[in-house]
Parts: sequence; C-alpha cells; structure tokens
Amino acid sequence: MSQRYAKITGWGKYVPERVVTNDDLARMVDTSDEWIRTRTGIRERRLRTENDTTSSMSVAAAQQALAVAGITPGDLDLIIVATSSPDYLLPSVASQVQDMLGAQCGAFALVAGCSGWVYGLVTASQYIQSGAYNRILVVGVEIISFALDFTDRTTCVLFGDAAAATVVEASDEPGGMLSFELGSDGSGAMALYVPDGGVVSPISQRTVDERRQYLRMNGQEVFKFAVRTLSNSLKRTIYDAGLTPDDIDLYIPHQANARIIESAARQMRVPLDKFYMNLERYGNTSAASVPLALVEAVEEGRLKDGDLVAMCAFGAGLTWASAVIQVGTGEISPAHSLFSLGRARYLARRTSDAVLDSAQSALLPLYTFWYGRRKKS
Ligand code: ACO
Repeated sequence: MSQRYAKITGWGKYVPERVVTNDDLARMVDTSDEWIRTRTGIRERRLRTENDTTSSMSVAAAQQALAVAGITPGDLDLIIVATSSPDYLLPSVASQVQDMLGAQCGAFALVAGCSGWVYGLVTASQYIQSGAYNRILVVGVEIISFALDFTDRTTCVLFGDAAAATVVEASDEPGGMLSFELGSDGSGAMALYVPDGGVVSPISQRTVDERRQYLRMNGQEVFKFAVRTLSNSLKRTIYDAGLTPDDIDLYIPHQANARIIESAARQMRVPLDKFYMNLERYGNTSAASVPLALVEAVEEGRLKDGDLVAMCAFGAGLTWASAVIQVGTGEISPAHSLFSLGRARYLARRTSDAVLDSAQSALLPLYTFWYGRRKKS
C-alpha cells in the first residue's frame, strides 16, 4: 500500500450566543475585570443557553465541517467526540451525534480533559494512515459550565463553553499529520478534578452540601505543569517532525491563560505573535479550545497552503498532547526530509537546548544558596 497521509479537510465551530463578561462575573463573586484580565488575559466567555446541549453544539459544528469538506454524514467512517461534559454518563454522546447527523458509522467519546481533541486528531490520523478508514469526524466540545461552581472565584472565571469540529481525510499527497506526542501523568490527577459523581464517590446529600459536583483545581500546580509541558512537548514534537521551532508558521496552544502561552514563547525563543490566541473572547473551552483556535485562525486568514502548524493542549489527568501538521495540499517543506539542512539545525538546536536545561538544573541549587546568603547578610 502506498503511503497515506491524514489531512484536515473540513472545519466548523459553534459558540453559544450568551456572552458573559468579567464585569458580569464580578457581580456574582468577589473578583474584578482587572484581576481576570491581568492574571489570565480573558475578557469574556460564552456560556450555554438552555437550548444548548453537548450533542446539539457538536452537531452544529460538525455540519459546518462536513460542508467545508464537501462530504455528507453518510461518507463518514468514524466519529470521535472529545469531551468531559457529555449530555449523559450513558449513552456516549458520540452515538447521539452520529444519530443526529444521520451518519452510519462507528462513534466513540474520548476523555482526556482539555487535551481531548488533539488526542482525537492523533487517533483519527492513525486509523487513516493504517488504511482502516478514509473519513473521520473529530469533535472537541465542552459545556464545562455545568461543572463550574459560580461561588468559587478561583475557577468560574477561567472557563467557557464551545464546540469545534474537523473532518480528517486520507490523501496520497504529502502533508497533514507530521508528528505527535501524547502524554499523561496521573500522579497529578487531584490537581484538577470533580470529587463526586463517579464510582468512588457517587452523588449523595454530601455532594450537594459540600458542592462536590463541581470542578476543583489547584491553580498554581496546574500553572507550573502547563508552563513546563507546553514548551517541552512542543519542542519534542517539532524536532520529531525534523523541524525547528523557527520553521513553524503558526502555533496553536491550548487557550487556558495568556501568561502560560507567553512563558512558552519566551522559553522557545519564538515571537509571541506566532502564537495564536483567542482566549480573550472565549476563556478556556477545554476540549474545544485548540480546534476552536484552529478554526478561527483559518477564518482570519492566518494560514495558507503548505503552512506548518504546531498545536499543544494540556489539562485534567494530567494529560497533554501535541501535533505538528502541514495544512493544505503543499509539499512537505525540505526541512522535513531526513538528511536536510533543517534536520541539521534541529540536531544543533536540540543539543544546545539540552545543554542549557542541564546547566540551569545544575546552577539552580548554587543560585538558591547564594541568594539565601545575600538575603541574610
Ligand atoms: N479574582 C480575584 N482574586 C482571585 C481570583 C479571582 N477570580 N482567583 C484567585 N484570586 C486570589 C487568590 O485568592 C489569591 O489571594 P490571596 O493571595 O489573598 O490568597 C490571589 O488571587 C492569588 O492567587 P493565585 O492562585 O496565586 O493566582 P495566580 O496568579 O496563580 O493565578 C490562576 C490563578 C489564573 C488560576 C493560575 O494559577 C492559572 O491559570 N492556573 C492554570 C489553570 C489552568 O490552566 N487550568 C486549566 C487546565 S485545563 C483543563 O483540563 C480543564
């Protein structure tokens, strides 16, 4: 079988009509527009109206994606819906989406927190590259507001609801998915979790009394994990594609916090304007975050045929997922071939990064010791 490539050929989004500004939230909890903007970069978010469900939002985004790809639901071989906020615990929301679309194919939901859609994209690419399937719908959707405690200012200001969908298709032309990394560190699970509603702690009177049906987060732990993960995973995935950070035309990071993205850009020595951001308008939409940013980047004309895009998401689990893709029908750039100039630059950059990282680790105890003595004297 000749080499098959997995390409995104369709995209669509759905965001609820209801806009909730920082000032609106400041009327509900002890917060302010200034605090939210300076600590996160978020100005407003969309929250569901009573007509919005996880399945209805998925279908609205999916219908756009199918139209852009120029295919019908009957052409789909598989549907993957990434979400942590399904309509019901059972059945899988993916089956609802399959039925509502009128598709006749397999469908499953995928839970990997905010990393879900990138996990889904990688999964779809594997089915396509193996030859098993030709056309797969991958949805990232979240009505995370259902798990938000609107009396807890440390979490309710961060998130929003949205859906975004992509069609991934088989192609003989080089491009599409070039490299990826999937990661999980379950030791950090309790940094971001919902205490009740699962097998270990079913819903009870205590759930309601102690508000245990809502998301709890150790913000600083997640922040440190995110800063570390975003730049490191992106670099590894870019290097695995035989590229360097400079080769990437657009970065699409998880839209959790502008400070996390700024820090990754600094660490990677990449100009911040190469990092796409729309979190100002939507907040963190969890599994919908990266695909929503991708869709809007396309709509705003930020991507042209042949561009190289690096994406990275991180979240509950703790999980992370990165992917480097080449959009459109262009040839893979020379930097992607094995013995190219790009490969040489990549090896040099990777070595220098490793040396710098080791030097930083070695110098940190010395610096801490010196700083402690200086403070005492
Ligand atoms: N308004 C006003 N003050 C607030 C608010 C708020 N909304 N939230 C917290 N504060 C207060 C705190 O109580 C604290 O007050 P204190 O000093 O009197 O105790 C002070 O602000 C500082 O709190 P920190 O937690 O230190 O604030 P920080 O600068 O770390 O920012 C934030 C908090 C925005 C949550 C940050 O830690 C963050 O972005 N973490 C990552 C979160 C994330 O990305 N989560 C999503 C993961 S994805 C997923 O899978 C769902």
